[in-house]
Amino acid sequence: GKGEYDHYMRKEIDAQPEALRGTLAGRIDGDDVHLEEFPPGTFEGVEHVHLLACGTSYHAALVAARQLTRAGLPTSAFRASEYYDLQPVDESTLAVAVTQSGETADTLGALRRAREADARTAAVTNVVGSSVSREADDTLYIRAGPEIGVAATKTFTSQVVALTLLTHRIASDSEAGTVREDAAEFLAALEAFPNAVEELLATTDARTVSDDNMGRDAHFFIGRDFEYPVALEGALKFKEITYEHAEGFASGELKHGPLALVTTDTTVYALLTGERGEETLKNAEEAKARGTHVVAIAPEGMDVGGVAGEVLRVPDTHPDLAGLLANVQLQLVSYHTAYGLGRSIDKPRNLAKSVTVE
Ligand code: M6R
Repeated sequence: GKGEYDHYMRKEIDAQPEALRGTLAGRIDGDDVHLEEFPPGTFEGVEHVHLLACGTSYHAALVAARQLTRAGLPTSAFRASEYYDLQPVDESTLAVAVTQSGETADTLGALRRAREADARTAAVTNVVGSSVSREADDTLYIRAGPEIGVAATKTFTSQVVALTLLTHRIASDSEAGTVREDAAEFLAALEAFPNAVEELLATTDARTVSDDNMGRDAHFFIGRDFEYPVALEGALKFKEITYEHAEGFASGELKHGPLALVTTDTTVYALLTGERGEETLKNAEEAKARGTHVVAIAPEGMDVGGVAGEVLRVPDTHPDLAGLLANVQLQLVSYHTAYGLGRSIDKPRNLAKSVTVE
């Protein structure tokens, strides 16, 4: 049950440290990754990767696509419902379905299309025995525990972490891949990551930020690099449970169109974590000059004065993981806003937890 919580969503946000410990348990060993489901050598012969997913899982896939591409494996993330003859598929293709429920019809359909074109298949899912686990050659379970709220929260975080571990395995198995140089340091940060989430949850000011920005005409989320998928995810969560107008943009794209939407009655949530945070700060400044209110989501110690009216801090972690912490702040902003507006948070209108029609 929900216990002391008003909503499952809130309970599941708070359960992220525990969910992550489940995802990570026994899977990191010094500078190597140990996945029972995928022993070393599993991915020999893989030359490129297609990630197939919908909604929040697609945003997790976008993060993983960047990681895999940087590890030398050309990777594309596709919205499963759009995966039709877009790129060549053959035996050197690894098609990975990323789906929390394992029952999403669009994702299962895309996986079947990949398999028919001779791709090797894998699944990343939370639900043991789900349809996807029966259809894919092999399955990696994210082990986040059951998620009841329609809004995906803890499963997004755990999916990204599971995909990070999978990236390591693919990169070390495949001839094309190279394991990151800072693997030991990065994997140590990953092991400590549940503690960073715990610290954030204990210190967040997200509720105040929600109260201050409720009732604005529109809410825009901007980020670049690993923070771009986080901007998309922040906006999806916001529209899903608050029913307010929200959009996520690549921060560098603002000036190519979306800046026309920015007024004194909008809020821009700028994701300033990660290696490219300073660049997004410049883009936030351009928005600020048009009179918008800027909320920064920034690492400790970053000077955002002059641009941001408010700031949500994220604890220290590896820069490639900091966007995931920023995302937890955005989950909380969406939750508190939806709460303040009296929305049906665990069961938003018109939506279902798993979408079993194409
Ligand atoms: O179970 P799946 O991960 O395949 O679900 C995909 C989407 O339907 C899902 O992530 C949806 O976007 C969430 N409700 C967003 O919070």
